[in-house]
Amino acid sequence: MMISYFFFFFINLSLILWVACFSSVCFVSVFSVLDERIEQPVKDDGSLSFLVIGDWGRKGAYNQSQVAIQMGIVGEKLDIDFVISTGDNFYDNGLASIDDPVFQASFSKIYTANSLQKQWYNVLGNHDYRGNVEAQLSPILQKIDHRWICHRSFIVDTEIAEFFFVDTTPFVDKYFLEPEEHTYDWRGVLPRNKYLSKLLKDLEMALGDSTAKWKIVVGHHTIRTIGHHGDTKELVRHLLPILESLV
Ligand SMILES: *[C@@H]1O[C@H](CO)[C@@H](O)[C@H](O)[C@H]1NC(C)=O
Repeated sequence: MMISYFFFFFINLSLILWVACFSSVCFVSVFSVLDERIEQPVKDDGSLSFLVIGDWGRKGAYNQSQVAIQMGIVGEKLDIDFVISTGDNFYDNGLASIDDPVFQASFSKIYTANSLQKQWYNVLGNHDYRGNVEAQLSPILQKIDHRWICHRSFIVDTEIAEFFFVDTTPFVDKYFLEPEEHTYDWRGVLPRNKYLSKLLKDLEMALGDSTAKWKIVVGHHTIRTIGHHGDTKELVRHLLPILESLV
């Protein structure tokens, strides 16, 4: 969703946590949508530090550059291992193609601090879905900037924590029912019910199988919030019960 400010925070790890920036499903199954698993090493002492940011790609405007500088300073102090992005990576309409100069103008040329030259684990937000999603997911972007890792849903596994990245945009009815003047790139997520039910099933299984001390679920839309967008009712209905069943 569009919000006119940036934020970031850090978690210094030493439950289940929902990390989000934002302020009707049936049941079938065939293909796997949570199949990407990335191993992320921890520090020698077994700890892990990282930053989380969402709603950022503004070619430096809206104070994006100032936030990037502060992230660089905090990132240095914490000696971060990676950065998580909760989506809306490129305003207003995602990336147009793999050659879109916005990728560098909003990412590579902004997060230039030494401490931020780590892996970035990105999920998509609704604004990313207004562009060419296949381009933003393309591994070719890693050749332009080696930090970039973006998938719809995936797992990052560290020794003490396992991160479950969830593609939340296709859950939200209004993007389908009232897209207004926007065009969403739904390639790869249709038929929608099949995609969502498979995602929920895969997530439930992966969370259940995980033996990590910390299980951290990351997505773009907030499940519950006092922010002006309000709760995301589709996630309260379909995702929250899965998280609660593990507590
Ligand atoms: C950038 O930050 C300054 C200082 O906090 C604020 O006054 C200004 O409105 C911000 N600019 C934008 C475009 O958000």
